[in-house]
Amino acid sequence: MQRSDQLYAGKAKSVYLTDSPELLILHFRNDTSAFDGQKVAQLDRKGMVNNKFNAFVMRELEKHGIATHFERLLSDDESVVKRLEMIPVECVVRNIATGSICKRLGVEDGIDLDPPTFEFFLKNDPLHDPMINEYHIRSFGWATEDEVKTMIERTFQVNDILKSMFLKSDMLLVDFKLEFGRQDGKLFLGDEFTPDGCRIWDVNTREKLDKDRFRRNLGGVVEAYEEVAQRLGVPLD
Ligand SMILES: Nc1ncnc2c1ncn2[C@@H]1O[C@H](COP(=O)(O)OP(=O)(O)OP(=O)(O)O)[C@@H](O)[C@H]1O
Ligand SMILES: [Mg+2]
Repeated sequence: MQRSDQLYAGKAKSVYLTDSPELLILHFRNDTSAFDGQKVAQLDRKGMVNNKFNAFVMRELEKHGIATHFERLLSDDESVVKRLEMIPVECVVRNIATGSICKRLGVEDGIDLDPPTFEFFLKNDPLHDPMINEYHIRSFGWATEDEVKTMIERTFQVNDILKSMFLKSDMLLVDFKLEFGRQDGKLFLGDEFTPDGCRIWDVNTREKLDKDRFRRNLGGVVEAYEEVAQRLGVPLD
């Protein structure tokens, strides 16, 4: 697989064209950002850990019938994926209330949400990813009614699959965000599932094992990601 021109570079990953028009290379960099890119750092090994973590989760989801963009690992910090036309929204499910939802709704941190909540956010850093609803998505043409319905259904399916996967290894999947895109009219899960885009707590101590360690200057960020990977049996070396 030949890596060709860079298509775009985000805050944590760079995307490259390849010799095949339907495939891209995702390069997971060590760059880490929070608060819409206002706080940034380089964290050694993070690109490698996230690349392998994402591959593991995407394969697990495929086994359970979720169509994802993931094709294969290319190197320690690169993967081959389907080239998608990304839908510019984030799909968020929360099993426990923490972070922005507590500020927004004035609810207590750490309460269980039964049923889990679902939220859409518009991917737009200058506007700080505002929360939107499915009417905005349809009215502005970001996705069709069918795609909206499928994104909601799939995100809840992913929640069921991953919640039990994490719990088997003594971890709580607190919340996460997914991005979807289309190829040939079909919807695929795109982007990544890594501790950069979800919250994971130890089931007994409720210790944070995700990017909140970076947001809150708790230290041991990549060490926590590696701990999660090791508990799940993700091969890192
Ligand atoms: N299969 C795919 N095909 C095309 N683009 C993709 C695919 N998977 C992910 N992307 C896009 O690649 C970019 C990945 O970079 P990164 O996650 O670093 O971006 P980011 O800084 O979070 O920016 P953004 O706010 O656009 O996500 C994102 O814009 C993401 O939507
Ligand atoms: Mg991103």
